[in-house]
Amino acid sequence: MADGSALMNTYGERRLTLVRGEGAWVWDADGKRYLDALSGIAVCGLGHAHPDVTRAIAEQAATLVHCSNLYNIPVQQALSLALRDASGMDKVFFGNSGAEANEAAIKIARLHGHARNIDVPTIIVMEGAFHGRTLATLTATGNRKVQAGFEPLVRGFVRAPYDDIDAVETIARNNPDIAAILVEPIQGEGGIRIPAPDYLARLRALCDHHDWLLMLDEIQTGNGRTGSLFHYQQRGLMPDVATLAKGLGNGIPIGACLARGKAAELMRPGNHGSTFGGNPVACAAGLATLKVIAEQNLYARAAALGARLRADFQAALAGCDSVRAVRGEGLMLGIELGRPCAELVDRAADQGLLINVTADSVIRLLPPLIMSDAEADQLVATLTPLIRAF
Ligand SMILES: Cc1ncc(COP(=O)(O)O)c(C=O)c1O
Repeated sequence: MADGSALMNTYGERRLTLVRGEGAWVWDADGKRYLDALSGIAVCGLGHAHPDVTRAIAEQAATLVHCSNLYNIPVQQALSLALRDASGMDKVFFGNSGAEANEAAIKIARLHGHARNIDVPTIIVMEGAFHGRTLATLTATGNRKVQAGFEPLVRGFVRAPYDDIDAVETIARNNPDIAAILVEPIQGEGGIRIPAPDYLARLRALCDHHDWLLMLDEIQTGNGRTGSLFHYQQRGLMPDVATLAKGLGNGIPIGACLARGKAAELMRPGNHGSTFGGNPVACAAGLATLKVIAEQNLYARAAALGARLRADFQAALAGCDSVRAVRGEGLMLGIELGRPCAELVDRAADQGLLINVTADSVIRLLPPLIMSDAEADQLVATLTPLIRAF
């Protein structure tokens, strides 16, 4: 399998060949079964091959797979209304990925800056952030590894340490060109970093004071994963722009940029677009996914199961010298070790468990929202000895 491809080597060596999934489980080409504690990196929140999503995809595919955005697309309109009502935002632009959702946000920030007569509208972004791999979003990303080789980077970004309000206030005093802040409510790729409880509210206050847009990248935190449909709903504030992707289509590519108030009115005909953005099949998957999340109250499930997993790992790993921290919100969990631990990914796969390591030394767990208590117990029982032996 590995030899039989002509793919560019962007992902390095890939050991496993996954061919089938059901719920929290996937199977490889040899029929071996794995408990999936990663969900395709926070994508399949409803688990694999969820019947409602599969049915919605199949029915839409049998009706109309694609038509241009030159025409009204009823299922796209329906998803925009469902997202508006669930989020409290006003308007939606659909793309096909997280990076595209953030590109739309960045363009809205620039329109906002130009409307304020700023020549080089500048967005404050954070160290350790991850916003995507397009040129603008890799510039916004706070990780040199993602940027290296792709210079020149895009103008119009200034960086602050994450979870550091003083740094943002210093930028505010010194830079009259700021138009927006783009920030993850919890940093995912950056190592499941959870800011101070008032961080987002204080950013909100700064944005209000300076007429900046607060733009939250909810691509990993959204879609129910952290205990509410969008993380900001737990923080008692509204952003001006919020971006979604990953779990929105439960595996079908879709990204969304939501905007509110004046930020929702900046895009004009001809400003922005996408051939596939808001494709009928993707929107049917998105509608079905949102419906299941709401009907089964999966945000509450994510919060409860996440709390259980955190407590169980904390208890199981108590006294383990290599563990620096067990942290998370809902089903976005990080176990930080004292040294790089990428090899644990293969060791876990050998034991039939899919995990991820990010920021070199943080085991990242993003299980599906539908994971059962018994499966969660199995996750803890499989991973704990691997960490203890590391
Ligand atoms: C917070 C965040 N933003 C943006 C992205 C980019 O999304 P995509 O890979 O769909 O372009 C990711 C992907 O990991 C992400 O976690």
